[in-house]
Formats: sequence, structure tokens, C-alpha cells
Amino acid sequence: MSSIDFLRAKSEGRKLSMATCYDYTFARLLAQTPVDGILVGDSAAMVMHGHSSTISATVDMMLLHTEAVVRGAGGKFVVADLPFLSYRKGMAAALDAAQPIVAAGAQAVKLEGVDGHEDVIERLASSGIPVMGHLGLQPQSVHAYGGYKIQARGEPAGRELLRQARALEAAGAFAVVLECIPAPLAAEVTAALTIPTIGIGAGAGCDGQILVLQDLLGLNIDFRPKFARRFHDGAACIADAITRFDRAVKAGAFPAPEESYH
Ligand code: KIV
Repeated sequence: MSSIDFLRAKSEGRKLSMATCYDYTFARLLAQTPVDGILVGDSAAMVMHGHSSTISATVDMMLLHTEAVVRGAGGKFVVADLPFLSYRKGMAAALDAAQPIVAAGAQAVKLEGVDGHEDVIERLASSGIPVMGHLGLQPQSVHAYGGYKIQARGEPAGRELLRQARALEAAGAFAVVLECIPAPLAAEVTAALTIPTIGIGAGAGCDGQILVLQDLLGLNIDFRPKFARRFHDGAACIADAITRFDRAVKAGAFPAPEESYH
């Protein structure tokens, strides 16, 4: 897969699947699945580091996670987030943020919003760096929203989101994540664009879907948003395995003779 394949998938009516990933081990596992792309999301700041928002992500943090994921991804399409403000400090700073991440092997970068950094999106795209946009709930703007809330409800807000989506496409983005917006609006945006929309909490009318891997696997015990279907009960499976290990150790049943060197 590549950014061109994403565009082709939309034109051929094929749905796209993406999951986030932040580390080598899970990247190795994702590489063995048919999933179309991996996002090294700035959600790493929350999921991997326990911060309360993605605002704590830095270029260095994204670089470390991108390097680990690329090593495990086996050539699968890897998109990496540009962190908070890194693309809002002028053109040179934005290029400096993107350069090491792409040099580390990300085939595309993702950034939130469009207004005020259309020029950055254009420059990245024309420099050979495919850009994925991110509209609707933009987690880096959580303080402006006063919390994580569904966005673009109602007619004027919907029209505004459609305008932003068109601006992103015009600036050269190859795809756009639509996060936590009403499903009918996401379907309307999807129909209006030639670039694919990748939804998260945006209903079934998008061209593709993305989930945070730890949500998808049921590993996140603190956060259960309605849109994040659990395809596995990972937390219970892991607790069970570790409890069985603990019991085996305490009963003297682990290690067995065949698990020991003689
Ligand atoms: O950082 C992230 O995990 C994301 C997804 C929610 C799309 O941006």
C-alpha cells in the first residue's frame, strides 16, 4: 500500500482499514495482517506514556516510536503524526519536524486541521511527503473544546467542516481522518471528496476506518468510547495469563524440567 493505493482504493470502492501502533512487537503482528496501513499516532503520548492528552507528544517521541514501528512493519504503509505545534511554527520548523520522521521510514505524515497551515501541507506534499489530514475532533485542540466532544453538530458547523475538507484536498492531502463527527456529515464529506476519508467515531459512510490498536484489542481499561468496538478481550486474556504464571511459580510448577537446562 501507498498513498496512491489509498486514492485508488477510493476510486474502486474498496474500504480501507488502519490501526495505530507504537512499538516493534505489535508492528510485527500487524505486518502479518491484511490491514492497509499503520498510524504511529501521537496518541502514543497517552497510550504508551500515560499523559492526559496528545499535547505532550514531541518530535523526539514520535521519532522513537516511528523507528520502532518501521522496523517491525515489514514494508506495510506507515503514517506518522506530526506532534502538537510542530507544523504551526513556520515552514522551516515544519519541514524540520517532518524530515527525521520520514527519514526514519514513515511513508506519510498526518497533521490536524488546515486553516493557517495550508502552505505547510502544500510544501510537504510538493516535497514528496504524502500528507494525511485530520478533521472533526482534533485531539491536539482538546483545551479549545473544553474536553473530548463530538464536533461539527448542526448545519453551520457541518458546512464549515466540509469547507475544511475541501481545503485539505486542494492543498494536496491524499486522505483525511474524520474523528467524532455525525455519521451523515461524514458520509456527505466522503461523497464530496476524491481523497479517501478514514473515520473514527464518524460512522460507516467513510472510505475506511481507523482504531487505536489498544482499544481494538480491548487492552485499554480506562477508556471505552462508544465508537471503539473491542474485537478482543485483551485485558482479561493478559490478566488471566499473568495470573496463571503467578500461580505456577508459587505452586513450584514453573519451570518444569523440560523448561530447564540440564
Ligand atoms: O493519534 C491517533 O491515534 C490518531 C487516531 C485517533 C486517528 O490520530
